[in-house]
Amino acid sequence: MTVFEGSKVVVLGGESGLLGQALMNALQHAGANTVGTCRASLDPMDNDALTAFLEREEPRIVFNTVAHTQVDAAESEPDLSQRLNTTLPERLGKHSLEMGFLLVHFSTDFVFNGQNEQAYTEEESAEPLSVYGKTKHRGECRLLEMNLERVLIIRTAWLFGPGRDNFVSKMLRLAQTRDTLSVVHDQTGSPTYTPDLAKHTLQLVESGATGLFHIVNSGQASWCELAAETVRVAGLDCRVEAINADQYPVKAARPTNSQLSTEKFTMVTGVTPRPWTQALRDYVYTDLSEELPGD
Ligand SMILES: NC(=O)c1ccc[n+]([C@@H]2O[C@H](COP(=O)([O-])OP(=O)(O)OC[C@H]3O[C@@H](n4cnc5c(N)ncnc54)[C@H](OP(=O)(O)O)[C@@H]3O)[C@@H](O)[C@H]2O)c1
Repeated sequence: MTVFEGSKVVVLGGESGLLGQALMNALQHAGANTVGTCRASLDPMDNDALTAFLEREEPRIVFNTVAHTQVDAAESEPDLSQRLNTTLPERLGKHSLEMGFLLVHFSTDFVFNGQNEQAYTEEESAEPLSVYGKTKHRGECRLLEMNLERVLIIRTAWLFGPGRDNFVSKMLRLAQTRDTLSVVHDQTGSPTYTPDLAKHTLQLVESGATGLFHIVNSGQASWCELAAETVRVAGLDCRVEAINADQYPVKAARPTNSQLSTEKFTMVTGVTPRPWTQALRDYVYTDLSEELPGD
């Protein structure tokens, strides 16, 4: 019997979010009584509605996947970013204290400045470069400052998976209509498959851990390597060429190297996440198979 079996579990963003949908699947498999939300069913910035919802549902665990995740748009929407990425987790922390549920909140590799040569551990200082990174980091800090006993913060990165458009699904689509894709090669990170992240999140909760953790698939890649591997695995005839970030100007600054170390997660759970290349094959062959050209 796991902590999830028969438990009421809320997933904020579970009806529509990339990670939220993977968590709902994993939780349902684990026997949880899940309630997901999307912005049409619950405005996460309306604290009265949020309070009434949590009081009605009386969850044992709340997973918060809601965030302003559009990194470039966030540069011109700092207030919205602050409300979703900082104020919301802070409010959830207060509700966790009052109502006694375990809060599992997600954060990002973009809290780091990217100057490390190695993968970042949980001990290393954050120095975010963008509005998205800064507001997500403030959200983490507010929760950690509250010294809550029942809070787990999980930083993750470069998500791909079923249910919502993402970098890999976009590359696959573009590769079917273009001869060449030019993709940034001087930024490196930890590509992560949402069903794997959901499974490992549940393992971490099951272990009773609280505090700050990193969870990503093993290995590293540049955006260009991730695109090239996607095209190769899908068997598409498209050249993927490497460009530098300054050849593809975007609004928000991004870290050069934001790989995350999962040593702490492995120490606590005994589990090592599989390489992202293996996970990518599952995604392309299983979840995206209908989007690939037939034989
Ligand atoms: N995606 C990544 O590559 C990545 C990388 C590192 C960390 N993370 C973190 O992982 C967590 C989950 O990310 P994700 O990519 O799964 O998120 P997502 O799919 O972009 O969105 C999650 C949820 O946030 C809701 N939301 C966004 N803007 C909203 C608004 N203005 N008002 C109300 N609801 C709003 C979305 O509702 P709608 O469906 O209605 O838009 C959705 O349910 C986040 O904490 C994120 O910071 C993600």
